[in-house]
Amino acid sequence: MTAFFEILMSIQWFPGHMTSARRNAAETMAVTDVVIEVVDARLPEASTNPLVHELRRQRQRPCLKVLNKSDLADPVATREWIAWYDRQPGIRAVAVSSKNAGEVACLPGLCQGLATHRNDNAKPLRMMIMGIPNVGKSTLMNALVKRKIAKVGDEPAVTKSQQSHSLGARRWITDTPGLMWPKIEYDSDGYMLAASHAIGRNAIIDEEVAVFLADLLLARYPERLAERYGFAVEGLDGVAVVEGVARRRALRGRGGEPDLEKASQAFLQDYRDGKLGRISLETPETRQAMLSRADAARKVTEQTVIGTPNQD
Ligand code: G4P
Repeated sequence: MTAFFEILMSIQWFPGHMTSARRNAAETMAVTDVVIEVVDARLPEASTNPLVHELRRQRQRPCLKVLNKSDLADPVATREWIAWYDRQPGIRAVAVSSKNAGEVACLPGLCQGLATHRNDNAKPLRMMIMGIPNVGKSTLMNALVKRKIAKVGDEPAVTKSQQSHSLGARRWITDTPGLMWPKIEYDSDGYMLAASHAIGRNAIIDEEVAVFLADLLLARYPERLAERYGFAVEGLDGVAVVEGVARRRALRGRGGEPDLEKASQAFLQDYRDGKLGRISLETPETRQAMLSRADAARKVTEQTVIGTPNQD
């Protein structure tokens, strides 16, 4: 286990407010017609909380999957993700940038299409916004109700309690706090979430996350690294990229050696701010490949355990 994951597991990963948030979400789900699940368009599946699916399934509620921050994501990958989600039962997907209020205006209509029976004063359409911290739920909510009701912040878990708001006579929307889940199953999801700042500052080791991100960009968007930092990236690995950033930005420790911690923070901030261009950390294809690798590794582990002679 890497230091990053040791820290991830040692922090109080499912704190009290997450447990009560989950309970409240389950109660609200009972009186909801359509779930608006906000995910980060750059990492839609890694930023999907399996708890949302579970709560939805228990009540058989349809879902509008909102791929938010699409202004930061690779448009080709986003199109692939929308087609992928639209093939799944009970799900419709749309890409928006909630910072652009005009783009979210279509969402209530799309939700209405998923619950056509809820369309009069006696049976208003009841929507519920869900998603992990920092994917843009508050920004989306503010854009939908056209005023500042939810506090927007780049530190996770800013929205603390549920609030309902009317969107005209026949539509209601309920805001829920960012909901994490107890165990992140795949290491790469943890890194992607950390790179995109869904996992808070105190829970991550910037250097490990930066090296992961650099390796991913070397494989998928090498030209963006070269453009932004002005050095050739052929033959480099993630560590060398972070060292290169330190040199380029003249970030040095006391002994004059490259300050990898500062370089990692600068590099991660560039990615978060979109300074490396529109980047998607996963596509349906890379997701499938990752799941297949994880599955194969799990089978090998199971066979090894079964095949190990009893030591007693
Ligand atoms: P949350 O409720 O899900 O926790 O997320 P919140 O709305 O607080 O948004 C988290 C950060 O993501 C905010 O950045 C917000 O502005 C940004 N954000 C939300 N939607 C979008 C989007 O569609 N595109 C982009 N590029 N950013 C988005 P911040 O740094 O705290 O605030 P700000 O300085 O950007 O306003």
